[in-house]
Order: sequence, then structure tokens, then C-alpha cells
Amino acid sequence: MTHPVVAHTRTELAAARPGMLAPVAVVMTMGALHAGHVRLIEVARERAESVLVTIFVNPLQFGAGEDLDRYPRTLDADLAICRQQGVEVVFAPAVDDMYPPGEAVVARYAGELGERLEGAVRPGHFDGVLTVVGLLLELTRPDFAFFGEKDAQQLALIRRMVADAGFPVEIVGVPTVREPDGLAMSSRNRYLEPKQREAALVISRALRAAAAAAPKGGPAAVTEAEQVLAQQPELSVDYVAAVDDDTWQEPSAQTRSMRILVAGRIGSTRLIDNVSVDLGTRDAG
Ligand code: PAJ
Repeated sequence: MTHPVVAHTRTELAAARPGMLAPVAVVMTMGALHAGHVRLIEVARERAESVLVTIFVNPLQFGAGEDLDRYPRTLDADLAICRQQGVEVVFAPAVDDMYPPGEAVVARYAGELGERLEGAVRPGHFDGVLTVVGLLLELTRPDFAFFGEKDAQQLALIRRMVADAGFPVEIVGVPTVREPDGLAMSSRNRYLEPKQREAALVISRALRAAAAAAPKGGPAAVTEAEQVLAQQPELSVDYVAAVDDDTWQEPSAQTRSMRILVAGRIGSTRLIDNVSVDLGTRDAG
């Protein structure tokens, strides 16, 4: 088999896309593929006849002083993984092809939720994410698109955009893939030195402790996480939060599923993680 077909431009994608058997699933990535991305591809394969992977380090979602320049770019290794997974088409465009030079006329705004939590630490980040995800949905026209719960706020915003804009696609969330010791897989983990990687384990430990406290309410879960995080001075915490998984507002007595989120930095490496806790049906009387 000659798979995958690699399209480096919109024109090449437009030529490859009609040959894909429906239903088509898309998995959008910034490359540096790891087991989390592979899981998305596997789940996509279960649902769809053909799988399209996009690989594009989107400059719009990086702020000044962030890691755009040092973000890992490993296209050959990524293509080898896509080949192993039987991916039909890979779209790996250059920046100029995605964003023709000149002033952009189409950009998306992520709204109020886009300015909280990750959005408060990374202003404009989610506008950049939604702009590229909207454009990639238009260019690839999938029946399904798969996103990881690892980036839970991103997933929630993409669901809202798709509902608002009426994109004819089903968004599917995929649970976070972790290393055996609990560390959430991330392309940024490769920046971590062994001691930093050890320190990073405090995040998943804090989330497990918070999840156990979740039935006592959002504030109790947050306090629990903060206490565990405080044991690791290498981690500089950006935020710890608990939200209602459906509304992304503070959890209430009606909350069925609570999501607890942690973000911070170890050295210059930014790490995020979260868990959701099913609180079942409450207030039964
Ligand atoms: P990237 O960080 O490469 O992630 C691509 C997809 O893989 C996202 O949906 C992300 O949530 C998912 N993912 C990453 N780590 C995961 C893990 N450990 N378990 C499960 N899924 C995981 O997210 C982006 O790229 C970009 O913002 C993008 C959506 C491609 C837009 O540029």
C-alpha cells in the first residue's frame, strides 16, 4: 500500500479528498505524535471508513514568548506512525498555505469561556485554535472529528463552535492517554529532563486526590489538589479549578459531572491535565 497520501497544500488536499471512502474521520494534530494521538487515530478508525490526519503547528494559537519556535517538528516520524496506523491521507500544510500572507479576513472568537482558565493564561490562544479548527473542518469536510479530553477546554469550545456555526460534523471526545505512572501524554513532555518529569507526576497525583474529594463539592476538590501540588516546589501553578463539565461554570448541586483542571509550569515547560468525576444523579430526595 502507498498510504498515506501526503498533501502539503490545499490544492493537493482537494485532489486527495474525493478518493476517501465515507464516512471520513479527521484527527487534527500539531505533530510530534505520541500514544495519545495514536489513540485518537484508533478510535477514529473504529468509527470511520477512512482517516485523515492533519499535522500543522498553528502559529495563531501561540502567544509572544511561547514555544512556537522550539515546538517539536518530527514529520518523518509522524508519517511513519500514520503509515503504521493505515491512515489514508495526511494533510501537512505550510504556514503560508494555511494563512496566505497579508491581513487575515477570517478569524474566530472563542467568547467568554475562551478567556477563562487556559484563555486567561494564554490570551488569544483559543481564538487561534478555533480559527484553525474551523478552517481545517472546511478544508477536510469530515463526518467525524476526534479530539482529546486532555485539552478539555479546547474540546468544549470546539463543540460550541460546531453547534454555533452549524458544521455538519460529529465531534467525538477521547479520554486522556497516560503513561503507566500517571503522566498525561503530551508533545511537550519531551522537553522535560528526568528530574522535571518526576516532579510533573505531582499533577496527576493532585488530580486523583481531588477526584476522591469531588463528592464534597468543587471547593473541597480544589483545596485537595492545591495541598498535593504544594508539596512540589518545582511546579509553578497557573490555576487549579473545578467546573461543571456541561456548563463550565462553578459546580452546583445539580452538577452531574465535575471536571477538575490543573495547569502550571516546570522550568519553561507548560503542562496541563484534568479529570472528570461522575457524581451520578444527586438530590434524589
Ligand atoms: P495537539 O496538542 O497535537 O493535540 C492533538 C489532539 O490530540 C488534540 O485533540 C489533543 O487533545 C489530543 N491529545 C493530546 N494528548 C493527548 C492525550 N494524552 N490523550 C488523549 N488525547 C490527547 O490540540 C492540538 O494539537 C491543537 O490545538 C489542534 C487541535 C491540532 C489545533 O491546532
